[in-house]
Parts: sequence; structure tokens; C-alpha cells
Amino acid sequence: MIISKKMNSALNEQVGNEFGASLQYVSIAAYFSGEGLTELANHFYQQASEERDHAMRFVKYVVDAGGKLEIPAVKAPKGAFKSVAEAVKLSLDWEQTVTRQINDLVDLSTKEGDHITANFLNWFVNEQLEELTTMDNLLKVVKLAGDNLLYVEEYVARHGITKNDGGTGQAAGE
Ligand code: FEO
Repeated sequence: MIISKKMNSALNEQVGNEFGASLQYVSIAAYFSGEGLTELANHFYQQASEERDHAMRFVKYVVDAGGKLEIPAVKAPKGAFKSVAEAVKLSLDWEQTVTRQINDLVDLSTKEGDHITANFLNWFVNEQLEELTTMDNLLKVVKLAGDNLLYVEEYVARHGITKNDGGTGQAAGE
């Protein structure tokens, strides 16, 4: 086995965390959809799908590394929101938590001299920078917009706060 038992169990935990993020974003997307905020809903459905992909990256890595996959119980997501700002703030909080979790995994890999896992985790380190920035910007726009939520819809539609820019914040070709 390429990974230690301790690392195996930490990676299994992260599988649960990423699936948890996916469920939370599905829940947020459904809330936006119910409010008639189609662009935000689409964005969060896509985020949910990306979080599932993150979970699957961990699943495949655990298997490839000869570990034992054990998916933990995933807590039910928050389902009711008082405002768009609350839902977006929760998303930013999630990304901050996930960033801490990824940092802890990197710390463990360093402590164990496990360069293979450290290298695998590098992708997630870069991804977290992108996701934190995206959520932080979105929250700023929501706060600026106040009651004018169509402004937020316009922002999401126009900037396509998806992964088209590869996380650089630059338009394609720049
Ligand atoms: Fe998988 Fe948004 O962190």
C-alpha cells in the first residue's frame, strides 16, 4: 500500500466532505431555482457536480494507492435559507472549511514524507484558490446588489463564474 493507514482514513474522511459539499450545493441550487434565480441555480448545480468529481478523485486515488475505501456518513445539508446572501455566505464558509481540510491533508503527507499523496493533493490546493476567489467575489456582488437580485443574475450570466477561465480570472486566450 502506497499510503499509511492514517492517510487512508484521512482521505476517506475527505471523500465524505466532498460529497457533503456536493449535497449542500444541490440544496442551495434548488433554493435559488425556487426563487426564480435561474443563473445562480445553474451555477450551483454545476458546483455540486464538480464537488462530486472531487469526491471521485479521492475515491480513485485511495483505490489506486492500494487503500481501503470506506465512505463515511454524510450529514444532511442545510435546506432552508432566509436570503441569497445567507446561502452564498454558507458556500464561502464551506470552501474555507474545505481549504483547511486540504491543508491538513497536505500537512499529514509532509509529516509522513508521502510525496505521492502530496503531489496528488496539489491539484486540490490550486482548486481551492479558485473556489475561494469565486465564492468571495460572488458574495461581494450579492452584497452590492442588495435587493436587486437581477443584477446578481446578470453578473453570473455575464461572467460565467464557472471554470471557463481555468481559475485565472482571465478570459480565454489571455
Ligand atoms: Fe471540493 Fe469546493 O471544494
